Amino acid sequence: MTDRYAVFGNPVRHSRSPDIHHAFAAQTGDDLVYERIEAPLDGFAEAVAGFFDSGGRGANVTVPFKEQAFALCDRLTERARQAGAVNTLWREQGELHGDNTDGPGLVADLRDNLGWPLAGQRLLILGAGGAVRGVLGPLLAERPADVVIGNRTLDKARALAERFGGAAIAVRGCALEQVQGRFDVVINAVSAGLHGEMPALPPGLIAPGAHAYDMVYGAQATPFMIWARQQGAGEIRDGLGMLVEQAAQAYRIWRGRRPHTGPVLSALRSPSR
Ligand code: ATR
Repeated sequence: MTDRYAVFGNPVRHSRSPDIHHAFAAQTGDDLVYERIEAPLDGFAEAVAGFFDSGGRGANVTVPFKEQAFALCDRLTERARQAGAVNTLWREQGELHGDNTDGPGLVADLRDNLGWPLAGQRLLILGAGGAVRGVLGPLLAERPADVVIGNRTLDKARALAERFGGAAIAVRGCALEQVQGRFDVVINAVSAGLHGEMPALPPGLIAPGAHAYDMVYGAQATPFMIWARQQGAGEIRDGLGMLVEQAAQAYRIWRGRRPHTGPVLSALRSPSR
């Protein structure tokens, strides 16, 4: 029987997860279907229960349901607990399990695909929402020299810095317009970057040749990517690689095999699609 998977979100029609998982299945020779399910904003728990009750094998969760998915789970991995959010679900012996593969996906893209070092680097993260909470633990595990979280709402940046900072690595929260320093790696997770404008930031934050990464992706360069270029960043990338890597990690959880991500990422980027 064909195994069923799905991504839950609202909206979800633009999700590229089905393409990615179908490409993985073609590679591994697995028989599966992966669909998009737009759960009602007040009906996520029911939609998930219905999916697994009817034989669904695994699910991904995207905006705005990752925190609700976290709350629903009977069992959580350590990194999901740390993130306070879940993007990968499966059921075992009647219990709902949750993991968060966003952080490992981001780190795999930065470190393994792009070859950007994180250890010993000065890291600036823009934004302090769910996306940042989901990736901070795995980023810190790479041992950057220090981390600044810049956010429009100072309290949220400070709360995250307090939650994740420790004796080993200093994590500081700041208001966006007060960020100071020169950073080797800048990661954007301000969701306004998707369609709006870049929030105002002081000049001179990007060290010459530094790396800039936008966790969102799109057909064109995002406002953050344009800003990073103007500020002198060396390499600048969007978040498509992170999307493919987090999917590969979910695939391995569900099916015990880790697909090759390189060909899938190249196919998604190719202009013929
Ligand atoms: P996500 O899951 O994408 O992180 P979120 O939790 O709603 O979504 O967080 C959105 C992030 O984008 C927050 O850091 C938010 O800043 P605030 O914490 O101050 O709300 C940021 N953001 C959204 N719109 C913004 C804007 N116009 N200017 C600056 N920051 C913005």
